[in-house]
Amino acid sequence: MDELFWQKKWEQNQIGFHEPTPHSFLVQYFSFLHLKKGACVFVPLCGKSLDIHWLLIQGMTVVGVELSRIAVESLFQELGYTPCVTEWDGGVTFEAGKLRVYVGNVFDLTAQELGGVSAVYDRAALIALPEATRHKYAAHIVSITQAAPQLLITLDYEQAALKGPPFSVGEEEVRQLYAASYELEILEREDVEGGLKGVCPAVEMIWHLKPLSK
Ligand SMILES: C[S@@+](CC[C@H](N)C(=O)[O-])C[C@H]1O[C@@H](n2cnc3c(N)ncnc32)[C@H](O)[C@@H]1O
Repeated sequence: MDELFWQKKWEQNQIGFHEPTPHSFLVQYFSFLHLKKGACVFVPLCGKSLDIHWLLIQGMTVVGVELSRIAVESLFQELGYTPCVTEWDGGVTFEAGKLRVYVGNVFDLTAQELGGVSAVYDRAALIALPEATRHKYAAHIVSITQAAPQLLITLDYEQAALKGPPFSVGEEEVRQLYAASYELEILEREDVEGGLKGVCPAVEMIWHLKPLSK
């Protein structure tokens, strides 16, 4: 999946991944992170997710990164925020209130630029990436967040049945990607109603990643 693939998706409004409500797993399990009000949650590959609205309502500071400027403009518009737009090495940053979004490639974001974060919320980020990129992505997220605690939502299905994205990322792979930095716990598994895209059975899972060194 190159940048053009995602830019086109947004230009053509082909955003079937965008949910009309905050994710039920986020709402149910956010408290497991034990964050104080004002704590900073990093949302990689954030799109214009309503999960961000929900996190802001909980009093969190939110930092996202997203390739598509269309997505980010929409996010701020739907929140009713007028952003201050500045530049960073990888593109532009939109900022208003307790929300800052880097428009650009997550792999260009450095720990220094991102600043300290208290947690990571990954929904449809890891699973948006092809297998060849997932290892690099997981290592990068661990590196730029200093292995901040994480809620991670994955999908497990027969990869041969569908091309992806979203890609199937099974339990073993999640452990391979993150076990060196985190203690991993599956908080819940849920069958995707009607199957994934109505084509094949799939299980959605939420993981709690607790840093080994903290
Ligand atoms: C499947 S969507 C999920 C969006 C959001 N997390 C949600 O739950 O609605 C993946 C998003 O990641 C963005 N994206 C893909 N690759 C990226 C990259 N390397 N850096 C930043 N954003 C990226 C895409 O533009 C797209 O909006």
